[in-house]
Amino acid sequence: MAAADPEVQAFFDDATNTVTYLVWDAGTGAAAVIDPVLDWDHRAGGADTRSADAVLQVLEEKGLRLEWVLETHAHADHLTAAPYVKQRTGAPIGIGARIVEVQNIFRPVFDARDLRPGGADFDRLFADGERFRLGDLEVEVLHVPGHTPADVAYRIGNAAFVGDTLFMPDAGTARADFPGGDAHELYRSIQRLLALPDGSRIFVCHDYKAPGRDQFAWEATVAEQRAHNIHVGGGRGEAEYVEMRHKRDATLSAPTLLLPSIQVNIRAGRFPGGEGRGVTFLRIPVAGRGIVQQDEEERS
Ligand SMILES: [Fe+2]
Repeated sequence: MAAADPEVQAFFDDATNTVTYLVWDAGTGAAAVIDPVLDWDHRAGGADTRSADAVLQVLEEKGLRLEWVLETHAHADHLTAAPYVKQRTGAPIGIGARIVEVQNIFRPVFDARDLRPGGADFDRLFADGERFRLGDLEVEVLHVPGHTPADVAYRIGNAAFVGDTLFMPDAGTARADFPGGDAHELYRSIQRLLALPDGSRIFVCHDYKAPGRDQFAWEATVAEQRAHNIHVGGGRGEAEYVEMRHKRDATLSAPTLLLPSIQVNIRAGRFPGGEGRGVTFLRIPVAGRGIVQQDEEERS
């Protein structure tokens, strides 16, 4: 008998162009939320949970039981609401095991000395090929590095939640120029996804409306991706892809929420410890001409 297929509801966040998915087994009510978003006011330095609350409301309305909060990777464009969802439901937070490499890259950048060893900020680190149950569904974890070293896709029945690998066919693929990113690896990861059965439903993590499209979209079949993806469709080879990816990445600026996102997301969404005043502080590493440091001035 074929493995059971999941029910899927998507929640699109206009502020960050991110898609959060609620996935569940209709038979048992077991559910997982993938890539929940924390609403972040970058200008004012404030957070809100309306996006995550909308997911939790559907969870409650449908009488589902949340068993997992799953991250596809440490996002650079939004802050995760994973710890809030965990706090509200008790569901553990899972991510790809190589998150430890991403933490090692960024620990010195943000002087994040509070990171726990061995990726222990997360509840579960998934190895490539690992499988676990979600009610009567089976979740298979596919390690799909390239965008970051730690990206995973979650394959659940006829659906695959691919994080930042493939975008919609008319938008192409994710960038590969973050620290630890690799366009060759990304190409090979994508080939793994394109080898899934033709009718598999590919759910992407972001959408920005490709030129000529006036609606946001986040779902396409493997067959559609294989035939029409503007970066990898039609059997495009690795060398050609990598050249295109490098050229394109050179034109992309840093995501608006890069600095707050990375330092929070490598802590599984937790903010650094506060100073007992009801606030906490994020760090902005800075370098460049014109920066005079406090102690230099004092010395002169
Ligand atoms: Fe990403």
